Amino acid sequence: MQLVLKNCCSEKNLHASSSTVKNVYKNKTYYPELRTLTKNFYICSRKVFDISVFLTRKGLKTRYMGVLNTLLTHKTNKKNTMEQKTIETKISVYRFDELSEEFQNLLSKAKAQCENAYAPYSNFRVGAAILLENGEIVGGSNQENAAYPSGLCAERTAMFYANSQFPNTAIKALAIAAWTNGKFLAEPVAPCGACRQVLLETANRFHDFPVLLYGTDAVYVAENSKDLLPLNFAKESLG
Ligand code: THU
Repeated sequence: MQLVLKNCCSEKNLHASSSTVKNVYKNKTYYPELRTLTKNFYICSRKVFDISVFLTRKGLKTRYMGVLNTLLTHKTNKKNTMEQKTIETKISVYRFDELSEEFQNLLSKAKAQCENAYAPYSNFRVGAAILLENGEIVGGSNQENAAYPSGLCAERTAMFYANSQFPNTAIKALAIAAWTNGKFLAEPVAPCGACRQVLLETANRFHDFPVLLYGTDAVYVAENSKDLLPLNFAKESLG
């Protein structure tokens, strides 16, 4: 279940009507998190916000925490004049057979790389394939270690390999796939934060590139790797 609360923290969306909140509250039997949410909501603000609630399929908890933080921020900001910035990331969703031959091929290479993973601790095999501007494709897989933090993700293994073997060649596209419990993930797998940071460095060094996230149900395509790490820390941040 996913709970999305819209516009609950800007002044113009403060309303005296509590009907929507009551509707949320009515659902508490089915969605216990909502009870806490509305409780905190009242405690924090003592005002009623206009809340649009959409229940879809996933991530209720995460969204809920996000909203709670917003409300707490609101409480300390009495005049409610805080500027808000919205960061959007555009991801295109494709079926595998809708993709170009080049992208299908790259995804197949990423899937094949899962076989090379060394993942005896997590049994979670990740494969990455990088298409370079010179047409070469290099691969990588996650390499674990008994001293857990010494292991490395598939994406960074592939990125560092590509950048060390072809130091002057830009990346054209990156594909990722993950395999566990005898099958590829149905939901597209996304790179971890540390890997996104490494993608950012390479994108800044040469130019940005698309990232393809494989899932058996769908393939997500981020046109620009930098979109996966908004509000980031890069060379310019060092001043
Ligand atoms: N892993 C990756 O290879 N890439 C990611 O982006 C996420 C996680 C690996 C690290 C570890 O070997 C295993 O998946 C479980 O976290």
